[in-house]
Amino acid sequence: MTMRVGVLTGGGDAPGLNAAICGLARRLLAAGSELIGFCDGWRGLITDSSRSLQHENFQHLLVYGGTLLGSSGDNPYRDPDVMVPKVLATIARHRLDALVAIGGEGTLGAADRLFREQQVPVVGVPKTIDNDLEATDFTFGFFSAVEVATRAMDDLRSTAESHGRVMVVECMGRHAGWITAYSGVAAGAEAVLVPERPVHIEELCASLLRLRQSGAKSAILAVAEGARVFKQGVCVSSMEKDEFGEYKTGGVAAMLAKSIQARLGWEARHVVLGHLQRAGRPIAFDRIFALRLGARAARLVLERRFGYMAAMRAGDIVEVPLQDAVAARKTLPNKFLDRYESFFMPIGGP
Ligand code: F6P
Repeated sequence: MTMRVGVLTGGGDAPGLNAAICGLARRLLAAGSELIGFCDGWRGLITDSSRSLQHENFQHLLVYGGTLLGSSGDNPYRDPDVMVPKVLATIARHRLDALVAIGGEGTLGAADRLFREQQVPVVGVPKTIDNDLEATDFTFGFFSAVEVATRAMDDLRSTAESHGRVMVVECMGRHAGWITAYSGVAAGAEAVLVPERPVHIEELCASLLRLRQSGAKSAILAVAEGARVFKQGVCVSSMEKDEFGEYKTGGVAAMLAKSIQARLGWEARHVVLGHLQRAGRPIAFDRIFALRLGARAARLVLERRFGYMAAMRAGDIVEVPLQDAVAARKTLPNKFLDRYESFFMPIGGP
């Protein structure tokens, strides 16, 4: 029997979203199903904004970054009494047999609740450059972002060395330091600062001083936007919250560069990589990874197995309960921090 399947991409975009849609569409369309794309994440279901995906040239689209469906951070559970009925009405109006949600914690959290509380037949596909989703080894987009950050640090070496400066490079990652850790280690950064290991500025500067005294002319510091920095035992990273109750991030690299220069007299500059880490084409690994996840999601739909998410486990594409993926945030494990101990600064702070 043919199925009518909806798909949405929610949250911050990540390289590989189009490839995931491609992997999903190829298998569903081959099975005679109809695929309807909802625009701008959950907003498309709240406002009933969609487009048919029957005739897209997916083969061409899979190489591009961004998402052909558009994305937003809208979430029906921000105002469930009003929004959830709207989502359910859209699903009924389109006579959907299944809904595939491609997203991170927020998008999949809503999908999980709609499945458990409203019996919506959902399947999830994990995406976020932050790689902070549980129940999957990696999310697509992460390695593309790591590539951007690593290349930036590689390139900054020459100018840092020419001018004898400390370059403080801020990477994305509010709660988890995955991008910073992978790119910082890959680029041979002199220090890597992640939210999982708070750092005292006094200890950081003491290490940098030792480095300089040992003859180093320059240094690269990789810093996560959510890194927690303490001065005289007090956290000096941003403690302000935004409208959604999330800590406002950004600015930690600027603050560190200023402090380092003031304390050590070692000239320092900062660079914020920002949305460049989400921009551009996915690397080949992410394209193929996303294609595989999309195809597995299609299989789950065709088998009518809902409430699951396609995931990577030890190199294989498997399925895991959606609930497991959103139960907690995946931060850098101690095993990783210990293995590359010399890259991370001395532990301190509460
Ligand atoms: O969740 C992905 C992410 O890229 C975070 O690392 C970053 O803090 C945030 O999105 C930025 O979001 P926005 O696009 O809303 O500025």
